[in-house]
Amino acid sequence: MAIDAQAVQDHYRQPALFDAIVAALARAGKDLAQLVADDLAPVDEFHNRGRPATVELARLLDPTGGLRVLDLGCGLGGPARHLAQAYGCRVTGLDLTPEFVAVAARLTALTRQEDSVDFCQGDALATPFAAASFDVVWSQNVAMNIADRARLYAEIRRVLRPGGRYALSDVVTGTAAGDLHYPMPWARGPEASHLLSSDATRRAIEAAGFSLVAWEDTTASARAAAEKREGVVPPPGSLGLQLVLGSDFPAIGANLLRNLRESRIGVVHAVALRA
Ligand SMILES: C[S@@+](CC[C@H](N)C(=O)[O-])C[C@H]1O[C@@H](n2cnc3c(N)ncnc32)[C@H](O)[C@@H]1O
Repeated sequence: MAIDAQAVQDHYRQPALFDAIVAALARAGKDLAQLVADDLAPVDEFHNRGRPATVELARLLDPTGGLRVLDLGCGLGGPARHLAQAYGCRVTGLDLTPEFVAVAARLTALTRQEDSVDFCQGDALATPFAAASFDVVWSQNVAMNIADRARLYAEIRRVLRPGGRYALSDVVTGTAAGDLHYPMPWARGPEASHLLSSDATRRAIEAAGFSLVAWEDTTASARAAAEKREGVVPPPGSLGLQLVLGSDFPAIGANLLRNLRESRIGVVHAVALRA
């Protein structure tokens, strides 16, 4: 099944995002000439719980220096820059949304990490990379936009070398029946949202030729973090995900918490080994 690329890109597109981020950094007193990856974490970690979730997934993966990593659906490149800075990985980020790819590259220039992190625009279902090009495929909160999971996991397997690993975080359906409340961070309505249950996600990954080496349900942490943010209004012009999500930010935050409280969604972290 083909993806509706335009719908995904329209959902994530945010005009003048780079300028808004730079203005927020300046307002926060950051010296752009001395910027480091950590300075960007409030805005460039676009998934539940932001940087702490990336740190946890990286610990689960335990990457060594020099690994070739593909960050599939890299967004603004926060996790990619973190993996390069904290673990010495060589990271390529690929994302469907052209504006995100452009901003990711410009932010990477600001943190002077162009030697270890690069980006390209493309579809996770048909990447431009040769077979067995990567030691790790890393993908946080992307599969929710992708209906054809068999094709996604087959493509991930194809670009991984034998013995390579796939590290993922994903939103999954919860135990409650019924639709989600929208808008959500990855979709403004059900037509663009393709969640599987935790069990179905596991089965689809295993069926593609992986064995799971770690599987963690992080729903409770996601809910606790969302509860902590409840009712918090970011100061105008501050560095945060409201710059990425735009005017829907308050509704998205409220729906995320409501869907977690009503057990309509869950969150998993996992690492799978390519057979
Ligand atoms: C919620 S954001 C997560 C971004 C990033 N992984 C992070 O955690 O900061 C989801 C990203 O997936 C990308 N995406 C969705 N479908 C995709 C596809 N078929 N191929 C590549 N990227 C895709 C979107 O453009 C968006 O940047």
